[in-house]
Amino acid sequence: MFDADLLGRLGDRVVGRRRELESVVAALAAGRHLLLEGPPGTGKSTVLRSLAEEAGVGFEFVEGNAELTPARLVGAFDPSAVLSEGYVPEVFVDGPLLRALRDGSLLYVEEINRIPEETLNVLITVMSEAEVHVPRLGRVRAADGFHLVAAMNPFDAVGTARIASAVYDRCCRLAVDYQSAEDEAAIVAVAAPDAGRRLAPDTLDAVIGLVRATRRHPDVRTGSSVRGAVDLTLVADELAALRGVPPDDPGVTLDAALLALSGRIRLREGSGRTAEDVVRELWSEHLGAGDDGTGPEHGSGGPGKA
Ligand SMILES: Nc1ncnc2c1ncn2[C@@H]1O[C@H](COP(=O)(O)OP(=O)(O)O)[C@@H](O)[C@H]1O
Ligand SMILES: [Mg+2]
Repeated sequence: MFDADLLGRLGDRVVGRRRELESVVAALAAGRHLLLEGPPGTGKSTVLRSLAEEAGVGFEFVEGNAELTPARLVGAFDPSAVLSEGYVPEVFVDGPLLRALRDGSLLYVEEINRIPEETLNVLITVMSEAEVHVPRLGRVRAADGFHLVAAMNPFDAVGTARIASAVYDRCCRLAVDYQSAEDEAAIVAVAAPDAGRRLAPDTLDAVIGLVRATRRHPDVRTGSSVRGAVDLTLVADELAALRGVPPDDPGVTLDAALLALSGRIRLREGSGRTAEDVVRELWSEHLGAGDDGTGPEHGSGGPGKA
């Protein structure tokens, strides 16, 4: 189950992340609930999904959002069946939480900070009591093997503050940060194998460098995750084919960078710049033709002056 074999199989599916994988496997082997916390695109879902598929245990997946009411999480009596049969257990439709409790499965909640307060309270009760009380149905105990595994983005404006003490005190927490440039290049190679191969290795490195630079730019509050590098690579490949030029053509990489990154970066309040402007600046540093002024204007199908 949660052992070194599992760790090996996870290592085959997840790029890098050895320490994080060990931490996740150890926490679950110890029977703990677990919260993964990190910016978007840092592989939290990839790690948890691989775990769910490789661990050989049941798992229930729940997307955390404002519509996740307690009834949706726990389950509810089928209203029409209740009319004919009354509140009997047979007409109760289990939600993901009850299925996980009864089967002793992993309950995997994405973006846990986004769920409504009352739903969060249900989870907090389950974490401390290992059971849930459902009106008219009764008590449902957690079977062996039930664990809550949750993920959240700590910089999300929605509901991160209220997660604090109640949840943190009842689970282990793993902070997940951006990976190294080498690992990010390897992730692009996995996520965009054909397009990645058609891009010269130096260009791929420059793409990774550009995306990472969005995370340190003084005008940027939140930079792009590795998803931006994957999109840039895929879009550059298609643009290059449409224009009949190689994917590292400057006009192609600039337009691909604008498409892939301008919506992903969040500028600081009052920076006075646009996202396009910042992407162009970073593009010229990382992928521009050099300091002779030859830029995309000279490439075929170039985007014109910045
Ligand atoms: N360590 C990794 N190994 C393989 N793919 C990864 C890794 N980290 C991120 N990815 C890829 O990057 C994208 C974003 O990862 P994801 O797990 O969804 O991030 P998060 O859940 O933290 O927002 C996914 O398409 C995933 O395939
Ligand atoms: Mg995720």
